[in-house]
Amino acid sequence: MVAGSADFTLRCADEGDVHSLSALSIETWLSTYAKDGVSDEYAQYVFGEFSSDRFLNILKTKAAEILVMRSGAYIGGYALFSAPTDSEMLRHGSVELTTLYVRPSQQRRGLGRTLLANVFSQCRANGASGIFLTVNSENANAIAFYEAMGMSERGEWTFMLGSLAVPNQIFSFRFDPDINSPLK
Ligand SMILES: CC(C)(COP(=O)(O)OP(=O)(O)OC[C@H]1O[C@@H](n2cnc3c(N)ncnc32)[C@H](O)[C@@H]1OP(=O)(O)O)[C@@H](O)C(=O)NCCC(=O)NCCS
Repeated sequence: MVAGSADFTLRCADEGDVHSLSALSIETWLSTYAKDGVSDEYAQYVFGEFSSDRFLNILKTKAAEILVMRSGAYIGGYALFSAPTDSEMLRHGSVELTTLYVRPSQQRRGLGRTLLANVFSQCRANGASGIFLTVNSENANAIAFYEAMGMSERGEWTFMLGSLAVPNQIFSFRFDPDINSPLK
C-alpha cells in the first residue's frame, strides 16, 4: 500500500521504531547514492551506519533526537539531529541535522518539509543559534530541497566513506530572534 502524505503524522521515535528506521535508511541511502550498484564498501557502510542497534543506542543514550513520520504501521521518513560532534562546525549552528531521509516512494509529498519544519521549530524553541548539515555535492535533489527550505550554502567539507573522499557542501539556517523561520 502506498499512503499519501496526508496519512502521515509526526512523533518522536521510540525503541519500537529501530528496525523500520534501519530498513528505511538502507533503502534510501542505496537508492540515492549507489546508482552504479551495491559495492562491498557501500554495503559495509550502510549495515554499520544504519544498524538497528545503532538507532537503539542513540535512543537509549539520548545522543540525538529522532522525529519520525508514521502512517499506521508504516514509516515514511525521519530526521535525526543533535549538537555537533565537531566543535569547528559550531560556527554554522548549535544543531547538526545529521540525517533527513524520506523513503523513495514517499518523496515529493511534503514529508521532508514537515520534518524539517518541526526540527526548526523544536530547535528554535530550545534557543539554538542555527541548524546546519552536510550534503553530498552531487545530490542535486537534496540541495534543491534545502535551498527551497531557505537554507544557504556556507562552504565545503569532505566526507570519508571508508577510503573514499566524498565532496560535500555545508548548508545552514541561522536563527535571528527577530525573524520567523520561513518554514513556519
Ligand atoms: C531530500 C528529501 C529529504 C526531501 O524530502 P521530500 O519529502 O521528498 O521533499 P518535499 O516533498 O517536502 O519537498 C519540499 C520542496 O523542496 C523542493 N524539492 C524537494 N525535492 C526536490 C527535487 N527532487 N528537485 C527539486 N526540488 C525539490 C521543492 O521545492 C518541494 O516543493 P514542491 O514539491 O511543492 O515543489 C528526500 O527527497 C530524501 O530523503 N532524499 C534522499 C535522501 C537524501 O538525499 N537526504 C538528504 C541528504 S543530506
